[in-house]
Amino acid sequence: MCGIVGYVGKQKASAIILEGLKRLEYRGYDSAGVCIVQGGRLEVAKKVGRVEGLSKEAARHHFVGTTGIGHTRWATHGGVTDANAHPHVSSDGRIALIHNGVIENFAKIKTFLSGKGYTFKSETDTEVLCNLIAYHFAKEPQENDGQNRFLESVRKTLRHVEGTYGIAVLCLDFPDQIVAARKASPLILGVGDGEYILASDASALISRTQNVVYLKDGEIVHITPTTFSITTLDQEDVSPVVDKITWTIEDAELNGYAHFMEKEIFEQPQALENSMRGRFSEDGSTALFGGLNITAAEFRQIDRFMFCACGSAWHACLVAEHLIERFARVPVEVDYASEFRYRNSPLDRDTLFFVVSQSGETIDTLAAMREAKRKGYRVLAINNVVGSTIAREADGGVYQHVGPEIGVASTKAFTSQLLIGAMIALYVARQRDMSFSDGVQYVEALKSAPNLVRRALEQAPRIKEIAKRYSHYNDFLFLGRLSLFPIALEGALKLKEISYIHAEGYPAAEMKHGPIALISENCPSVFFVPKGEIFNKVVSSMQEIKARKGPVIAIVTEGCELPPGLADDVITIPECHEAVLPIVASVPVQLLSYYIAVERKCDVDKPRNLAKSVTVE
Ligand code: G6P
Repeated sequence: MCGIVGYVGKQKASAIILEGLKRLEYRGYDSAGVCIVQGGRLEVAKKVGRVEGLSKEAARHHFVGTTGIGHTRWATHGGVTDANAHPHVSSDGRIALIHNGVIENFAKIKTFLSGKGYTFKSETDTEVLCNLIAYHFAKEPQENDGQNRFLESVRKTLRHVEGTYGIAVLCLDFPDQIVAARKASPLILGVGDGEYILASDASALISRTQNVVYLKDGEIVHITPTTFSITTLDQEDVSPVVDKITWTIEDAELNGYAHFMEKEIFEQPQALENSMRGRFSEDGSTALFGGLNITAAEFRQIDRFMFCACGSAWHACLVAEHLIERFARVPVEVDYASEFRYRNSPLDRDTLFFVVSQSGETIDTLAAMREAKRKGYRVLAINNVVGSTIAREADGGVYQHVGPEIGVASTKAFTSQLLIGAMIALYVARQRDMSFSDGVQYVEALKSAPNLVRRALEQAPRIKEIAKRYSHYNDFLFLGRLSLFPIALEGALKLKEISYIHAEGYPAAEMKHGPIALISENCPSVFFVPKGEIFNKVVSSMQEIKARKGPVIAIVTEGCELPPGLADDVITIPECHEAVLPIVASVPVQLLSYYIAVERKCDVDKPRNLAKSVTVE
């Protein structure tokens, strides 16, 4: 949520910042702005709308300065206006600031600053923070050596602040420096060749360097043209660790696809390969994970699992629950991270916690993890972004390795979470009752997932054609049972996220207890109809919909014979093992939502009001 870029170096800062903002736009896109130090001023260009609009605005400013900051906004405090867009400049004109997060005690600080003569042009908490830095800067003794005066004014300010922040600050008196800090909002420093780039995530700096320092909560980085130093809020020195990003700029490009969501849907076979590479035992009967930091013996003692996540990741947890309970016979509970953190639910002593998050920065998931750790539980993370806050604070975990996911609606990260959940179910099951040969069969099934997904993707032209015929409907139901109920939820979420169509996911049989009231010729239902013990039950639910003139799209596994006339449209997916079925069944609903959104001319990769990484509560 909100994207931050900063640059200190020898190049024109504005071009580099604007390119970075373009790549960060998926974090927030209601307004954007840039501030460059030049001509003895903190020169600002900012505008409601996309980065493209800002680029045109920036051209009018003829930016030439080599130090600057930029921001894409996802509004929290104050509406979407030019005045509320970042960067903000203090009323004395000395400090400029960009901010991701929420300053909770901003009202009190604003009253204090107003009393000191500071004035405000916006309704934002950020402008308050900016003026508080200016206040401390003005108060800092002039005889302090130059660098410290700027740095100390930021440090003092942050000690008075309650809330969350990732900030980057410019100071007119130190025109070639940036001070940046974080608390619960991501911030990375790219260490380039004679230049430094700050960013909320790696996609904004990968075109300039793969060497990065992941800043931690409570750290402040001070960047000058020749060096950088990291200290804590308590003035302790931090020795920086420079990590290498393993992916390249090509991974963050469209490469011929119309949208990132489309690209990421079609990348799924490869993404699944990457998620499972090297993670099966030599005898081929179970999964292996290198980074759990918990021994097999300890794992065997676990008598309950608790999974917490948000959004699509929460749906992946529901599938993990089904598979772990089904194959390993260990009870699992799944909670929304945002609920868990306040619910104070009773937990067994031998509960193992999992948090699932593509970004590793979702604030509610992070808070749930911290709460579980405070209570003394061990927390493992399933996470895609290497070096993310959740990855660093977890006791161990499993990296997804699917590369950058840029489309706001999760696709390849989601199916990879399904796969890792299935692998955990296998691991736990093999420690208990699952036989060697069932384990081998399960592993073979997981290994076949990429190919089965490839085959499901072959349905794309047919699904596109179906999408055209259904794109005018304003209500949809998604109905599935057992492990496909969460995929029904996911299908409904995908459709509403990117097409703005009202959609609900339900267990197919539960439909009689309410949603059936919605059924008419104006409300299509998407049914998952896999072969197996519940086939006839799902068919009965379909009959009930058809009897009420509801259009039906059926997603069936190969070899399923539906009664004639029951479905208006049928999409066939390969038959597969129960552990793989949710992965393969996700593909048609991803494609259906995608093509419907395209048909409705929606902005697929940047749906209104949404952000890829939700870093505010
Ligand atoms: C946002 C995204 C969703 C995602 C959710 C959780 O709402 O739009 O696609 O599932 O956040 O994100 P995480 O990074 O924690 O998986």
